[in-house]
Amino acid sequence: MKHYNYLLATDIDNTLTGDPEALKELRNDLEALRKKGELFLVLSTGRRLNQVLDGFENEFIPRGDAIVSQVGTEIYLPPFSLSSRPNDEWNRKLNGQFSRGKALEFVEGIEGLELQPEEFNTPLKVSCYLDKAPDPEKAVEQIRRRIEDKGESCQVVWSSGRDLDIIPADAGKGKAIRFLINHLELSPKQVIVAGDSGNDRSMFDEFESGIIVGNAKPELKKLQEEHPGGKLFFAEKLYAAGVLEGLKHFGVL
Ligand code: GLC
Ligand code: MG
Repeated sequence: MKHYNYLLATDIDNTLTGDPEALKELRNDLEALRKKGELFLVLSTGRRLNQVLDGFENEFIPRGDAIVSQVGTEIYLPPFSLSSRPNDEWNRKLNGQFSRGKALEFVEGIEGLELQPEEFNTPLKVSCYLDKAPDPEKAVEQIRRRIEDKGESCQVVWSSGRDLDIIPADAGKGKAIRFLINHLELSPKQVIVAGDSGNDRSMFDEFESGIIVGNAKPELKKLQEEHPGGKLFFAEKLYAAGVLEGLKHFGVL
């Protein structure tokens, strides 16, 4: 088994993307560390696999050692291609606790709610837009309450004032990374996570060391109060420049 110093799990949209020049610099730095075998890089995203692969080609996204996609409902290991299959163990574990049909009942009749296009809705993820609801926050609370009342093993992930995902209780970016480090025999202390919005929350809840980029959404800014003893780093810089700032703070670069 390889000995890595760090595992960096970073979100893609508005964490890596947003400043292509800074991202090129970050990509060079990360690739140098990967070449030395010091860094295990995880791309941890709401995107579908094909959108991540597209990002490798067209958006300077660094190639990772693992991809956690669809808000932590799928995990991919190399070699990555359009025909890659998600990790079967993870898939089976989540499948056993989730019913898409039941998850859809929780969003039924919510005013203004729209289902996201079909390609973002999978057997393990019900995704909707709530920005047209009269009071999106209230609607989220209502959906959460419905789930609690039924005692269902699923969770709501709420991001950017627009995106609502219902995924299995044991899914999410944070738990998917925990699954990976168990397989890699890495300690949680070696993990650094980076993100900008609600679907990254589970990573900050699961691991101590985290980088919140300067452009983060309000739902992450309040993490400071919620994890007073943690090692969260609130970067001043935006997007990939914020990730670079954070990696210097943690002594990785
Ligand atoms: C990505 C996914 C979308 C999800 C959002 C927030 O944009 O495509 O389905 O709702 O992330 O998690
Ligand atoms: Mg993001």
